[in-house]
Amino acid sequence: MQISSKEDYFKAWQEASENPENFWSKVASEYQWKKPWESVQSGNFTDVNIKWFDGATLNITENCLDRHLQERPDKTAVIWEPNGVDEKEITYTYKELHAEVCRFANVLKDQGIRKGDRVVFYMSMVPELLTGVLACARLGAVHSVVFAGFSAQALAGRIKDCEAKMVITCDESYRGAKTTPLKEITDEALKDCGSIEKVLIRVRTGASVPMKEGRDIELLPLLKEASPHCDAVEVAAEDPLFILYTSGSTGTPKGLLHTTGGYMVWAGFTFENVFQMQDDDIYWCTADIGWITGHSYITYGPLLKGATTVMFEGVPTYPEADRFWQVVDKYKVTHFYTAPTAIRALEACDIELVKRHDLSSLKVLGSVGEPINDEAWQWYHKEIGKENCPIVDTWWQTETGGIMISSLAGVTESISTYATYPLPGVIPQLLDSEANVIDDKSGEGNLCISKPWPGMARTIWGNHERYKETYFSAYKGKYFTGDGSKRDESGRYRITGRVDDVINVSGHRIGTAEVEDALNEHHHVIESAVVGFPHDIKGQGIYAYVICNNGKAPTSEEEQENFKKELNAVITKIIGPIAKPDQVQFVSGLPKTRSGKIMRRILRKIAAKDISNLGDISTLLNPEVVEEIKKGAGL
Ligand code: WTA
Repeated sequence: MQISSKEDYFKAWQEASENPENFWSKVASEYQWKKPWESVQSGNFTDVNIKWFDGATLNITENCLDRHLQERPDKTAVIWEPNGVDEKEITYTYKELHAEVCRFANVLKDQGIRKGDRVVFYMSMVPELLTGVLACARLGAVHSVVFAGFSAQALAGRIKDCEAKMVITCDESYRGAKTTPLKEITDEALKDCGSIEKVLIRVRTGASVPMKEGRDIELLPLLKEASPHCDAVEVAAEDPLFILYTSGSTGTPKGLLHTTGGYMVWAGFTFENVFQMQDDDIYWCTADIGWITGHSYITYGPLLKGATTVMFEGVPTYPEADRFWQVVDKYKVTHFYTAPTAIRALEACDIELVKRHDLSSLKVLGSVGEPINDEAWQWYHKEIGKENCPIVDTWWQTETGGIMISSLAGVTESISTYATYPLPGVIPQLLDSEANVIDDKSGEGNLCISKPWPGMARTIWGNHERYKETYFSAYKGKYFTGDGSKRDESGRYRITGRVDDVINVSGHRIGTAEVEDALNEHHHVIESAVVGFPHDIKGQGIYAYVICNNGKAPTSEEEQENFKKELNAVITKIIGPIAKPDQVQFVSGLPKTRSGKIMRRILRKIAAKDISNLGDISTLLNPEVVEEIKKGAGL
């Protein structure tokens, strides 16, 4: 169902709100189901037992692949652009992609993977990451992609949590000028993961890596020999499709579980309406399949809609900081979807890097992952879109499965720093500090969603109580997003950022508690507090306040530098390099309330170098420490 005017948008939103059963059964009927549903939606946010299209059966890959074989077998489905400019791209038509996925599914089957088994992918952006997740879906196996920047320990935690049977990795990955030893990291992780039976290795760099007899097998030779035919396994609409781990404000990462039918309908519907593609358009989302954006908007969304999707292995700055623009020019990309952090980083480079490429193919620009500041928005609009391309600022989350609030390209208006309107089916509410719904047209508060939508995560793998507690306990009967938002007179939303203890670093979600736990593993650290602070390129940076054991605090600058290096090493080992603090301040104490709670608000202000309005500190347990921390921060 493609919405093509603003009037249609308002009508669709109204209909989806008032008569969701009708609306979503119309949308869902565009897909192939093996058995029809008995009910469109059941369950609610009080019992937290949401189901969509219950009773129906399907296979999502028939909808991504087989369905297109009649109409567009020779259309390019995927263009894979390698890290290096000298290496040739690989393209797959829908027919070829279908065959590739079937081959991969046959390999998985031969190696013992069956419906319901969990398969972890720890790969860089090689084509087999995309064909591999689809191959799992073809068999009804559950994929869980772990971003290749995570450490062995983080990988092991995820493998154990979902009790995966297989890991698929690369010998090494290429990213810019760097290689990362993925197989070595996997071996380290597998030292204590009993559930893994097989490891498939996709050779990428050709580095020599140890292979464990009976467990490790090279992937490419198996694919070559496998049959390109593989029947799609029939699964229930509510059967699991994938698990994706993400950070929250407390504890260990949560494995959010997405199921099949509702996710499919949501990914397809949002992709179609937000991006408004024409048949011969070329779409490029620069995300990594290790994150939700790569699941919904490199893989499932575009393929469900028969689009051409570009998959990029490299980084925006390699070999030079014009790589994005060079690739747009090379493939005549029409729809370009990236993150504000990348926009800001590229904006800081010489404008000649943009000007040397022809960007006239572009029609629509997208932004995702964090609030986009006005300056970056204007630059993107002017220098990249040449003031001709609507910008879709898409707000959503791993938990939501797909885009929730965004303009529809060329259909509803784009406004700088505003995600604007909720998609049909999304009923946002703003809540004030007393948990009252703000009824006025305009206002500001905590962003909740009041009704189920098809793409929402159904649970946290293995821990439904935690799911209920995390998302549905702050406000009874509502899904709480963890974000704050404003709404203007016209009902358009402007996301202001997280209101919980999650930091958004370059669009990566990092839980402060996780970083603190890791820092505290250092044998000379007693306690730490981690907060976010404004960062020009990353959006937010990580600021860590660290208390050391008696007599172990570094005194000279050199000692401090060495200590910071050790802390970075600990973080890299436990979480991965993405969680390394940008700033470390050694302190003798942390401001605490009388009940022992750390006053993060004060720490956030000091990290932001803003000491106006610190509030009443006299009621703290240790008010004197605030002066010391201010001084230590050079304020
Ligand atoms: C933030 C990424 C403002 C937000 C798809 C959310 C955004 C978190 C936007 C989810 C946006 C994402 N404007 N903030 N357009 N998009 N966010 O799970 O804080 O990696 O809660 O999903 O990113 O991050 P996640």
